[in-house]
Amino acid sequence: MGPRRIGVLTGGGDCPGLNAVIRAVVKTATLGHGVETVGILDGYQGLVEDRVVPLERDSVSGILDQGGTILGTNNRAAPARYPDGTDANGKPRIVDATDRCLATAEKHGIDALVVIGGDGTMSCSAPIAQAGLPVIGVPKTIDNDLVGTDLTFGFTTAASTATESLDRLHTTAESHHRVIVCELMGRNAGWLTLESGVASGADVILLPELPFQPEVVCDFVQSRRAGGRGFSIVACAEGARIAGQDAVVARRVQGSPDPIRLGGIGALVADLVERETGIETRTTVLGHVQRGGAPVAADRVLATQFGHAAVEFLLQGAENQVVVLRNGTIEHIDLMEVTGKQRLVPTNHPLIRAAQSIGTCFGVH
Ligand code: F6P
Repeated sequence: MGPRRIGVLTGGGDCPGLNAVIRAVVKTATLGHGVETVGILDGYQGLVEDRVVPLERDSVSGILDQGGTILGTNNRAAPARYPDGTDANGKPRIVDATDRCLATAEKHGIDALVVIGGDGTMSCSAPIAQAGLPVIGVPKTIDNDLVGTDLTFGFTTAASTATESLDRLHTTAESHHRVIVCELMGRNAGWLTLESGVASGADVILLPELPFQPEVVCDFVQSRRAGGRGFSIVACAEGARIAGQDAVVARRVQGSPDPIRLGGIGALVADLVERETGIETRTTVLGHVQRGGAPVAADRVLATQFGHAAVEFLLQGAENQVVVLRNGTIEHIDLMEVTGKQRLVPTNHPLIRAAQSIGTCFGVH
């Protein structure tokens, strides 16, 4: 027999389309199958702390086009390493709260979980799944770095927001004959920078997967100026790094499944370009703008397909799986195939080759 009450949570950083998934899960379960749904607030934190709300048809009415998540999210609360107050020395006490998650599920009659999140969220669900509560994951992230799926929802919206921002930087850079370096999100994956860089016609694209040589970037900017184009746009991934050096870390977030927050490479590249070329250079860090706002149509559609499929797969008996998009088809794969891995841009990706062939510099020879 399939589940009678499904719990839904959103974990990790938010992204456009989360609400569209929640809506599809709730409507598919309740309208399509008469299965009840409840929402768990603020990711796994709500599961540990027993914060559960009813989710009915009315709760999800009108949220398809809303950014963020009506359930709230959290990128610190991993059940197996849960920060629970402080010890006698004032240090954070880390406990295994898996049992508390299971107790909350039992109390509310939750017999399956839909977890909507990225790699961290999927990894966090493993101990819960192993303890016997069936889990199905729905892959979200603006980074598009989840293995097993051709696309995560949220990415297309973030890429289009980033493209629009790069377009805006283009006009001001051109007017002032400046270089503008725009630092984009994506962690260790360059998908967002590659896609928005190509879409906006950035002159230089710096990706984590292709460590760059500063002199190549500076020579390229100089040669553009010598050729009469006084400005340049550099789309720089937050995970980009100078060949032979590490990525630049902005901060470490205690308690997060992936504590490192990248940032700062944009300013470093700008300093370097200005010093070496003498051309006035500015930096823009696009930041969380890329995660906010309404999902574009393609993300609303993908999120709806994912949410619907998650419920259908659960009712067909799938357990501890992740919903994925492969060659245009929605399928499911084992949760363990996804956890602890990253899908990076192959250095011979056709889009890199196409961009190189039309004169885009990637900072490498
Ligand atoms: O994984 C999504 C993401 O937006 C990354 O692109 C970025 O590095 C990180 O999250 C930022 O995390 P936070 O919201 O904790 O600053």
